[in-house]
Amino acid sequence: MHGSRWWQRGVIYQIYPRSFMDSNGDGIGDLRGIRSRLEYLSWLGVDAIWISPIYPSPMADFGYDVSDYCGIDPRFGALDEFDALVHDAHRMGLRVILDYVPNHTSDRHPWFLESRASREGEKRDWYIWRDPAPGGGPPTNWLSEFGGSAWEWDDATGQYYYHAYLKEQPDLNWRYPAVRDAMHEVLRFWLDRGVDGFRVDTIHHLIKDSELRDNPPNPSYRPGMPPHRQLLRQYTTDRPEVHEAVAGMRRVLDGYDDRVLIGEAYLPFDRLMAYYGQDLSGMHLPFNFHLIGAPWNAPAIAEVVREYEAALPPGAWPNWVLGNHDKPRIMSRVGPAQARVAAMLLLTLRGTPTLYYGDEIGMSDVPIAPEQVQDTFEKNVPGLGVGRDPERTPMQWDGGAGGGFTTGAPWLPLGPDLARTNVEVQRADPGSILSLYRALLALRRAEPALAVGRYAPLAAGPDLLAYVREHGGRRLLVALNLTSRPRRLELPSGILGGRLLLATGLDREGELLGGVVDLRADEGVIAEVAPAQGA
Ligand code: GLC
Ligand code: CA
Repeated sequence: MHGSRWWQRGVIYQIYPRSFMDSNGDGIGDLRGIRSRLEYLSWLGVDAIWISPIYPSPMADFGYDVSDYCGIDPRFGALDEFDALVHDAHRMGLRVILDYVPNHTSDRHPWFLESRASREGEKRDWYIWRDPAPGGGPPTNWLSEFGGSAWEWDDATGQYYYHAYLKEQPDLNWRYPAVRDAMHEVLRFWLDRGVDGFRVDTIHHLIKDSELRDNPPNPSYRPGMPPHRQLLRQYTTDRPEVHEAVAGMRRVLDGYDDRVLIGEAYLPFDRLMAYYGQDLSGMHLPFNFHLIGAPWNAPAIAEVVREYEAALPPGAWPNWVLGNHDKPRIMSRVGPAQARVAAMLLLTLRGTPTLYYGDEIGMSDVPIAPEQVQDTFEKNVPGLGVGRDPERTPMQWDGGAGGGFTTGAPWLPLGPDLARTNVEVQRADPGSILSLYRALLALRRAEPALAVGRYAPLAAGPDLLAYVREHGGRRLLVALNLTSRPRRLELPSGILGGRLLLATGLDREGELLGGVVDLRADEGVIAEVAPAQGA
């Protein structure tokens, strides 16, 4: 793995801090809790943790509304506890990636309080203020991602301010140099404290059209879709000037050793690639979310992989994601049998995988009763199923009352499957999905072919996905059955046979393969294969 960087070889594990581990019984996860579970993460075999926002926040969007970029919310702990967490993580060989939320602050951030205090103030231009449209009303038709107009009227100063998300999340004006400088200082503050990188929130929103043109209607909008989808986000997202802002962040990171910049942008491949930047001077890893939306069948997934691999700029490093705190869990999307196949896919494709906490024990979306709803998105736009609480429920550590997560009342309910779906039970079960994740992570660590090797797809018919990963002459075959019926893969003439290293059922290790691989229903296997003589 000579020449590769830790964030290329490694596997990232996303922690939603409210829900990972509560150390003081208030029902909300915290930094001391995370620290107490580092041993688990190191046992599991991941390389880095990305922690969703832990900064002081009124929690209108659970931390994605930041009121102080250089502190820790008391609900999560304090700076010295953060330092201790980084120290322990590093000692155990785990890197720490923080969430960086540059697009907007909280409406309680001192910058915004000053900005809204008067039109003449020094910080007025730190946010996006505009007069009403000539006939009155909001300056443009722009819609908030979380429902309603993206413009909020401010009576005191007689102007509107722009918010891409909640009205409690006013957008910063990244065209204004002082904003960039201040936000670069924030990066340095955490880099100096030893963090290994950032996951940058909603990066494609950062710059809006300078002429404030109206967004066009979305021809594929249908009732039942979230209301903001009525318009295409042509003038509010993915503006050309955003890449300059990303490059500015990257220059800050490049002043330090070996840090990583990861960007969140839900975009089609052709747009996403630009976020690697001119000559790769942008994001190291613009998140690739396309497995989240893909229909779960072999041709669709093969096509996603083909398109992505083909679109990558030269030298750009790929990455893959199955879920996060904004999307339904993989278990609920594909069911328990295919969740194992999905795990094998995520951890064997070429590129850095990001795991979402709880997926490794097969947690499902937890049903949330109306009176339990916490997510403001759901409260603003009820009834469409947009709420994100189901995938944010507490990590299930054991089968006890608080699931080993809390001694108090958890902020969101634990899953009805707690008795089986928990770390304690699955750690003791050599056939569990947790054991599979751990075996996959161990194999990936042991096999450079999986971590950094070349990728070559094999023709495998409509029901199977198959590919070879190769590094330094060692070749590994991955064969995945996406159906619930047994299937046979005929190996191409270039491959003579091989030996099975890992199967999703954890029960075929060492089996020898001839010219075919027989896969049981919903089964995936990884095998070492030998090239045919002369091939
Ligand atoms: C990102 C976050 C999401 C948040 C939004 C606004 O999409 O992942 O949780 O609500 O940005 O910050
Ligand atoms: Ca707590």
